[in-house]
Amino acid sequence: MKKIAVLTSGGDAPGMNACIRAVVRTALYKNLKVIGIRRGYTGLLSGDFMKMTTGSVANIIQRGGTILGTSRCEEFRTSEGRARAFEMIQKEGIEGLIVIGGDGTFRGAYELSREGEVPIVGVPGTIDNDVYGTDETIGFDTAINTALEAIDKIRDTAASHERVFFVEVMGRSSGFIAAQVGLGGGAEFVVVPETRTDLNELCERLLKSIRRGKKACIVIVAEGKESGGAFQIAQQVNACIGTEYRVCVLGHIQRGGSPTARDRVLASKLGSAAVNALLAGHRNVMVGEVKGEIVLTPLEETWTKIKPIDRSLLELVDILAGGTRN
Ligand code: F6P
Repeated sequence: MKKIAVLTSGGDAPGMNACIRAVVRTALYKNLKVIGIRRGYTGLLSGDFMKMTTGSVANIIQRGGTILGTSRCEEFRTSEGRARAFEMIQKEGIEGLIVIGGDGTFRGAYELSREGEVPIVGVPGTIDNDVYGTDETIGFDTAINTALEAIDKIRDTAASHERVFFVEVMGRSSGFIAAQVGLGGGAEFVVVPETRTDLNELCERLLKSIRRGKKACIVIVAEGKESGGAFQIAQQVNACIGTEYRVCVLGHIQRGGSPTARDRVLASKLGSAAVNALLAGHRNVMVGEVKGEIVLTPLEETWTKIKPIDRSLLELVDILAGGTRN
């Protein structure tokens, strides 16, 4: 293998740049040529390529976003689109591809590798952490820290006005972010898609806290159609207990910012491991970290197998919210 390429795809995540840097520098160290593909699969289809040097990844380890750009590419979901992508890969002489992204990215990569027979290694980069085969995805740690910083600020105003705040966090259809920030942010209750939410229990919990004299009550709601989001939950609760409330949707703020130390380290390890995996002859796998060890998981398992959220975190939120269930 003489020439490889790297792209970032799907929602950007803090630490993607650190990962690109690790891929490029490890590949150069191993005497490979490296191509950066701009704007994810969209750039692969249009041949938007750039030669990567040591200098092209200088001063990016601390930067959020992705210097290569990213996209959600509809055309790549079709077999015609992927055939065109494979043509581009052949034309450029790319012998191995590293894709940094989430499960959508890996589904596309899997189809491409089957139809076009190009060796691909995936690296999990998404704030959602909803990828099987790795304890954490790149960007997750930064996202939960960003959300926590915001929640600490919300708590100040919530306490001053004695309001209940419903804070919506990202996660697509998973509650990894919600569970972590619920516990770390001292929430009264966490609403996640993985468990059924008992509205009566939520109302009871809030009433009890308010009666105890608690001034700032925070309910964390994972985004998604399962719960209807923070606005819907807030309206339902208000209809039951009529307390003054506000809703805050944290949204894309969770995707930005300088990556935490933990994300930079994870991204550096996984980026480098991806190059090593390609060189060792591994194909169509994702590199992940499980219990501190680098592990390879077949690409299709990363979305067909479900990574469960840690339900003990939710139980702990209940206990630490201060009170018994009844
Ligand atoms: O997958 C990352 C993520 O931020 C999800 O948490 C969220 O549901 C989605 O992307 C938002 O996507 P977009 O930026 O395309 O609106």
